[in-house]
Amino acid sequence: MKDQFGRTIDYMRVSVTDRCNLRCVYCMPAEGIPSVPHQQILSFDEIARICRIGAGLGIRRIKLTGGEPLARRGLPELLGMLKGLPDIEQVTLTTNGTLLKEQINELVSNGLDAVNVSIDTMDPCRYREMTRGGSLEKALEGLDAAAGVPGLSVKVNCVPLKETGDEDYIRLVLLAKEGKADVRFIEMMPIGMGKNFEGRSREDICAVLEKTYGKAEWYTGRIGNGPAEYVHFPGFVKHVGFISAVSHQFCGGCNRVRLTSEGYLKPCLQYGAGTDLRALLRGGAGDEKIRMEMKETIYAKPAHHLFREGRHAEETLETKEMSRIGG
Ligand code: 5AD
Ligand code: SF4
Repeated sequence: MKDQFGRTIDYMRVSVTDRCNLRCVYCMPAEGIPSVPHQQILSFDEIARICRIGAGLGIRRIKLTGGEPLARRGLPELLGMLKGLPDIEQVTLTTNGTLLKEQINELVSNGLDAVNVSIDTMDPCRYREMTRGGSLEKALEGLDAAAGVPGLSVKVNCVPLKETGDEDYIRLVLLAKEGKADVRFIEMMPIGMGKNFEGRSREDICAVLEKTYGKAEWYTGRIGNGPAEYVHFPGFVKHVGFISAVSHQFCGGCNRVRLTSEGYLKPCLQYGAGTDLRALLRGGAGDEKIRMEMKETIYAKPAHHLFREGRHAEETLETKEMSRIGG
């Protein structure tokens, strides 16, 4: 369907848990976040019902996210349920990769269309530091398992930090050079703990990469469903992309809404506003009522975020951690 500004909304990011087996410094506090009781998290049936109604409103692609989605037991089963819904064309996954190897076969047999693996550094010590204890080896095993599946689209997402050395990013894009995955650099967004960290801009990273790999050319073909802009380096098999939500705002072309693990439908990452679908579901609302509420929420999607305005304190804005919102 179209929102109030004429944007086609056909993509829903569905967070299935706010728990994570890592503690990335810019995403979660060291002690983790207070865990939401299981009962308050939507069941698979509830998620599938919302997605089915969403499909009736024009949602065509679903991204399963978290926290760490693979930390939720039975995730492949949910994926299969969503893939089986009428009009849902694609179900994809964003994961830190550390639990991917053991689940990849089941995910693929349930219809996984694409996977994004978050890897912020190729240095094992630095990875352990940044994730507060994670194993880069595990994440890379997960990535390799996914890259080995014929026809599966695999991307690596990296949020570069000011304090990480250039060498890290030069090593990371080797994954694109060798054809294992498209590699995308995501600009740090001032959400939750992210407010305390400085990221690096597209221009900055691109200049670093060009020194090693030669001149980057803009790539105009279509890759994925999102706002990434891609470049191609000479001799590379895959592409390098940039998602620059703050410095190169792309809200005018935004195609997405979000469902939190607690069943809150959010039309924009940055705003607290949205609709408590869980209350409706559990209060016995019929499909038509839920459909109308979802339609109104999607229609009212804000024109753009206010990251650059720095109006973080405003009460309408989101105050939750990213792991609660689903990246
Ligand atoms: N800004 C940008 N990306 C973030 N992520 C988590 N917090 C932030 C932030 N403040 C990313 C993770 C992961 C994805 C799910 O969201 O690095 O790639
Ligand atoms: Fe977990 Fe992803 Fe947050 Fe890291 S960024 S703590 S992997 S949810």
